[in-house]
Amino acid sequence: MNRQLIQKAAEDILRSKKTIAFTGAGISVESGIPDFRSAEGLWQKYDPEEYAHIHAFYSDPDKVWLMLKDMFTLVMTAKPNPAHIGLAELEQMGLLSTVITQNVDGLHQAAGSKNVIEFHGSHRTLSCLKCSTTLDGASLKIEDLPARCPRCSSLLKPDVVFFGEPIPPKAQTYSFRESKSCGTVLVIGTSAVVYPAASIPIMAKEEGATIIEINMEPTPLTGQISDYLITGSAGKIIPAIVEEVRRQR
Ligand code: APR
Repeated sequence: MNRQLIQKAAEDILRSKKTIAFTGAGISVESGIPDFRSAEGLWQKYDPEEYAHIHAFYSDPDKVWLMLKDMFTLVMTAKPNPAHIGLAELEQMGLLSTVITQNVDGLHQAAGSKNVIEFHGSHRTLSCLKCSTTLDGASLKIEDLPARCPRCSSLLKPDVVFFGEPIPPKAQTYSFRESKSCGTVLVIGTSAVVYPAASIPIMAKEEGATIIEINMEPTPLTGQISDYLITGSAGKIIPAIVEEVRRQR
């Protein structure tokens, strides 16, 4: 782990007018949830066009529910890891204003983060496609899936944003506002290839923010948008940054 960059990140956070975090699946890998595009990622097992597009869900829901059951089990059993906990600590210290996450696992909230925007929705609740009744996923067991609406018996869909679906308007508006008014963005565990989510660090950069990338490998942001990349696992780097912030404070 690059100690100089850890120190630099702590300095950037301490002097920033406002710091936000933008997270992707990589931050939850150490909680046991595979990411999407790495070698063991979910998209190696399930073709996103066949399983993660809203048209696939409508045309063959039982098939898509095969993937959703996998995701459901992973999400409902996963626990926050030191990276999620470190971000919650930064928020408690008044040094992180918002987490904008592409993840649907609810682990930032479980770690104690209060201000979390779920840009791609959440796997923790499901809604009826017909009467919009919403269910808490914790009330269901894997053998109940695919579940039907208790009110009208129509099909339930997890409240995650499928490809081909719009981003929840409030999440998008609030995220764009945060990205345009912050001084520093911690971009953690995302391949930054899916839009409009990936425009968040780009918009922040255009407004003069410092972009700090934390990833196992470079991404399209590296060298273009990011001021620097701290290479390594989020579960180690985030706690090291928090410890350095405490030391420098
Ligand atoms: N620490 C830091 N980074 C990690 C770790 C780790 N322990 N493990 C993996 N990564 C990095 C990978 O190198 C990769 O750059 O996390 C990134 C994960 O990228 P993706 O799998 O593409 O996930 P993400 O960027 O969140 O995908 C965006 O695409 O499929 C859609 O809706 C889905 O929200 C998702 C979106």
